[in-house]
Amino acid sequence: IHLVIRTQSGRLTKHAKSKQLKSSGVTQQSDKPIVLLWFWPKNKRFDFEDCKRLFNIDSCHLTDDKNLYSKAQGVLIFHRAIADDLSNLPTSPRPQFQRWIWFNMDSPTNTQKIPGIQGLFNLTLSYRKDADIHVRWQMRVKRPTDQYFVLPKKERLLCLFVDNNDPMTGARQSYLRELVQHIKVDIFNRSSASFSKGEDYFMTISSCKFNLAFENSTDKDYITEKLNGPLAVGTVPVVLGPPRQNYEDFIPGDSFVHVNDFPDATKLAEFLLRLDKDNETYMHYFDWRQGFSVRRHLTEEKHEFTHAICQACAHVGKAQEYRVLPDLYKWFFG
Ligand SMILES: *[C@@H]1O[C@H](CO)[C@@H](O)[C@H](O)[C@H]1NC(C)=O
Ligand SMILES: *[C@@H]1O[C@H](CO)[C@@H](O)[C@H](O)[C@H]1NC(C)=O
Repeated sequence: IHLVIRTQSGRLTKHAKSKQLKSSGVTQQSDKPIVLLWFWPKNKRFDFEDCKRLFNIDSCHLTDDKNLYSKAQGVLIFHRAIADDLSNLPTSPRPQFQRWIWFNMDSPTNTQKIPGIQGLFNLTLSYRKDADIHVRWQMRVKRPTDQYFVLPKKERLLCLFVDNNDPMTGARQSYLRELVQHIKVDIFNRSSASFSKGEDYFMTISSCKFNLAFENSTDKDYITEKLNGPLAVGTVPVVLGPPRQNYEDFIPGDSFVHVNDFPDATKLAEFLLRLDKDNETYMHYFDWRQGFSVRRHLTEEKHEFTHAICQACAHVGKAQEYRVLPDLYKWFFG
């Protein structure tokens, strides 16, 4: 397995110049590269200070002030917000040092091709492992200070969190329909008020022995926080998405159950019911915790893209090499 451990490296000072920055009326001295967020993704606004507070990322000056365009080293452009005629992209000439970052967290299946943007970008930001800025919640090597694992109290066997923004359709829906014929599934609405605060969300997941983590695409590397939630709190994820092998690029093979391990939903249900009675075997799904830990992801609505945007800041803060991405779509859609 390949586990990537993200470290927050110090800022690069070689190319850094002292700049006078005006932000919200306050003049401040900064030697950090500017990263301009061209669109707020889905209008989810957060405080840029959160990058420091939540991830200890402080190596760039993040801004949404388009007046800083000509000084920005990085311009982060959210794919879904680009107009079909490209009229809302920057129009002023691009400074020679500036890099445009293609920002897309959707899978190819759920991404619309906008003609004419293929040759515009220098860097990619995506969940994909081969993106320049690879964004995902990753397992980390356990630190000596991490707490010893105690299995949380279990009140439910199998749970599912559904999301209004991501309705269960297609293959996921038919699989679920079959599954509930054979095993009880406790279904919660992720979008309901009580879960908008992370505490309830993680507490509820932790009360389930298993949690269905059904992705809305089977595209390579498309593995979301649906997987992270159960791993973070001590619940075994039952996944549907890319093949098992692809999951094992990111997490140990004995930390989850894959629906493809079984010929059909009936057999999966039988397996889970059997594990419900066999605690010793069940507990082996947590053996990975001796070596790794998982951090809780951000659950507040406004933070949907915070992690990604902060990662872009960290990247621009350290990497400076010249780069041209010849054909974005060839890379992304294959
Ligand atoms: C797929 O899931 C993602 C993340 O949950 C969501 O943002 C996106 O809108 C979903 N796409 C579709 C087509 O349902
Ligand atoms: C970024 O990409 C554009 C378009 O391919 C190219 O003209 C420009 O020189 C690149 N800039 C950097 C700093 O890599």
